[in-house]
Amino acid sequence: FDAVDVIAAKRDRQRLTDAQIDWVVDAYTRGIVAEEQMSALAMAIYLNGMQPQEIARWTDAMIRTGERMDFSGIGRPTADKHSTGGVGDKITLPLAPLVAVFGVSVPQLSGRGLGHTGGTLDKLESIPGWRARLSNDEILDMLREGGPGAVICAAGSGLAPADKKLYALRDITGTVSCVPLIASSIMSKKIAEGTGALVLDVKVGSGAFMREMSMARELAETMVTLGKEAGVATRALLTDMSTPLGLTAGNALEVRESLEVLAGGGPDDVVALTLALAVEMLDAAGRPTSEDELRAALADGRAMDVWREMIRRQDGDPDAPLPVAPETEVITATEDGVLTELDALKVGVAAWRLGAGRARKEDPVQAVAGVEMHAKPGEAVVTGQPLLTLHTATPERFARAVEALEGAVAVSPAGSPEAAAAVARRE
Ligand code: URA
Repeated sequence: FDAVDVIAAKRDRQRLTDAQIDWVVDAYTRGIVAEEQMSALAMAIYLNGMQPQEIARWTDAMIRTGERMDFSGIGRPTADKHSTGGVGDKITLPLAPLVAVFGVSVPQLSGRGLGHTGGTLDKLESIPGWRARLSNDEILDMLREGGPGAVICAAGSGLAPADKKLYALRDITGTVSCVPLIASSIMSKKIAEGTGALVLDVKVGSGAFMREMSMARELAETMVTLGKEAGVATRALLTDMSTPLGLTAGNALEVRESLEVLAGGGPDDVVALTLALAVEMLDAAGRPTSEDELRAALADGRAMDVWREMIRRQDGDPDAPLPVAPETEVITATEDGVLTELDALKVGVAAWRLGAGRARKEDPVQAVAGVEMHAKPGEAVVTGQPLLTLHTATPERFARAVEALEGAVAVSPAGSPEAAAAVARRE
């Protein structure tokens, strides 16, 4: 094979053959196909798309570049959840221990944040002592009978190494937001991970990869098909990411809010999404469970017990106080009315600029940085009341965070059509 022929075929809108796909994915991973050649091919795929058969083969070829985990020996069904990413999306933290209460093990192999969306591992690292990296044997021990039944840890570099390389290349060549490439990227990692059931939380709105419902739906359908064809019981929910989830965006702040949910409280939207995803995961894994049963496990401490064991097994101290920002700045309402908008992307960028996220893979993140919200769209606000509290360890960051929040919040007079619409959405 010749890389130029494969690029030219896709440039000319031809369907790539299985053999071409197998060769180009493997040769790229081994450094035989050059970065500039793969970047041309990624752009040709971006512009001309791929047929379902090509996407399935591409995904399988990426899986075959690495190892596959096998949970068949743990003696319990497994279910995982993947979110396409958003602002304040801490759902994995209460969800994994909650599902484990009901006899389904949760191998939640996670990543770090890039840009304005937070990473699950970054959040958990705000817990003193907690360790993200585990060996495969440690992961299996956590999931077996006798272990906590849930593990949230770093995905090893052995899973779909082709994706690691390709994702970094797409990031710098304007080829990220393309359904075939996103679907194969996510699903190659999830199928290689070896979960029996998978629930995809595909986010739509300003704070998500997918701004448009039509593209989010296409992505969801493509990923569900890929999962099912690979023998994974896969489902997808399309959920809103036009406003942040819950009342916090930032690492330690989000752990604190997750602990509220695990203690039977927490913001309504976080609880509702946690329950909805848990219902789907348990059903897909063959252990149908009602929302009432799930609520009871949050209220009576069973999910919290799993959480504590899960954190302890990874050297974290579940009783240690979470770090708190030394510096805060409060933004207050300048008029009376109803909060009609709290933009996810702008809040995410502000949290990132305060130090919660990173611009480059190797940058450190601040555990304490982030944005705390005091009202959600649809709620009444009065002049002078706090709307947002900005948290950071480095106060010179406040100015750029405030800049990012320009236009993030809108308040409309009570009784106006905008206010009525925001109240209706909330209900
Ligand atoms: N997340 C991934 O893992 N891959 C993508 O391509 C996009 C989001």
